[in-house]
Amino acid sequence: MNVLVAGGTGFIGRNLCAELVERGHEVTALSRDPDPSELPEGVETAVGDLSAYDSIEGAFEGKDVVVNLVALSPLFQPPKGVTHMTVHYGGTENVLQAMDTHGVGKLVHMSALGADPDGPTEYLRAKGLAEEAVREAEIDSVIFRPSVVFGDGGEFVPFARKLTPGPYLKVLPGGGKTRFQPIYVGDLVPMLADAVEDDEHTGQIYDVGASEVLTLADVTRLAYEAKGKSVKIVPVPIAMAKIGLTLAGPIPIIPMGPDQARSLQLDNSIEDNSVTAFGADPDSLTTLQEYLGLS
Ligand SMILES: NC(=O)c1ccc[n+]([C@@H]2O[C@H](COP(=O)([O-])OP(=O)(O)OC[C@H]3O[C@@H](n4cnc5c(N)ncnc54)[C@H](OP(=O)(O)O)[C@@H]3O)[C@@H](O)[C@H]2O)c1
Repeated sequence: MNVLVAGGTGFIGRNLCAELVERGHEVTALSRDPDPSELPEGVETAVGDLSAYDSIEGAFEGKDVVVNLVALSPLFQPPKGVTHMTVHYGGTENVLQAMDTHGVGKLVHMSALGADPDGPTEYLRAKGLAEEAVREAEIDSVIFRPSVVFGDGGEFVPFARKLTPGPYLKVLPGGGKTRFQPIYVGDLVPMLADAVEDDEHTGQIYDVGASEVLTLADVTRLAYEAKGKSVKIVPVPIAMAKIGLTLAGPIPIIPMGPDQARSLQLDNSIEDNSVTAFGADPDSLTTLQEYLGLS
């Protein structure tokens, strides 16, 4: 198949491009500034900004399937002039329009756990509106909603280390009780590639994670343990963290804004894990401890 991977130069995108090439597909990675030397051999590149329709339209010509992995991180404040609505929602609408223009019939779309047009953060609202647009489009689609994804080049583990700068004493909102169900990129990517190839997944929305549920405090401890350090987590009432962040924007101890602080209150664990739709047993997927070499 001829596959366009929008966001193909990112963390998940690079891994997916490699998997698709390995499976014998023709692959083009689209992003604003793709560097072919950072992509697996055989991957073509296309330059475009998803929020600017004219810049991406041509890349859709002749493609059989599109994968949308374009991302603006929910963990940090967006750069000036860029919003979750323009990138995740507007960008998805542009993808759907370009698919329509070029008669591309299938989209594998990456959303996020908790995506909801009425959700509590702009990231989740934009992801929710994008999902609605995908479901309403007259195309075959498969939607993935992962919890946090980890692996080489991912930002979650480094983010946990960055949350507070001081050595050994980590101040986390709510004591870091928010729960995540992380999935390893090496486990997720074959599922995305199966969704590209197999019609049986058409029309499905898949919430995916490994079986292990970890709190932010757990992840922070593990991230430091992997560096040979132990840490003490100090609870900060979430209301205090929110007030501080709302008034001050990014403050020294937590390099985020109010929307990012809100996201730290939202559990990111899964009720109905769809990894079984790909023949995977959640208990056999790579855990964060295993990835970090701690078990
Ligand atoms: N990683 C996770 O833990 C996680 C969890 C849940 C859901 N997701 C979702 O999974 C998808 C992939 O995430 P990721 O972690 O691989 O993200 P990433 O590493 O930040 O990669 C983002 C990709 O999007 C491109 N991009 C960003 N803005 C763009 C724009 N305006 N136009 C065109 N390309 C643009 C980037 O390249 P340039 O910046 O060079 O343009 C890059 O190729 C996203 O939809 C994300 O929301 C990720």
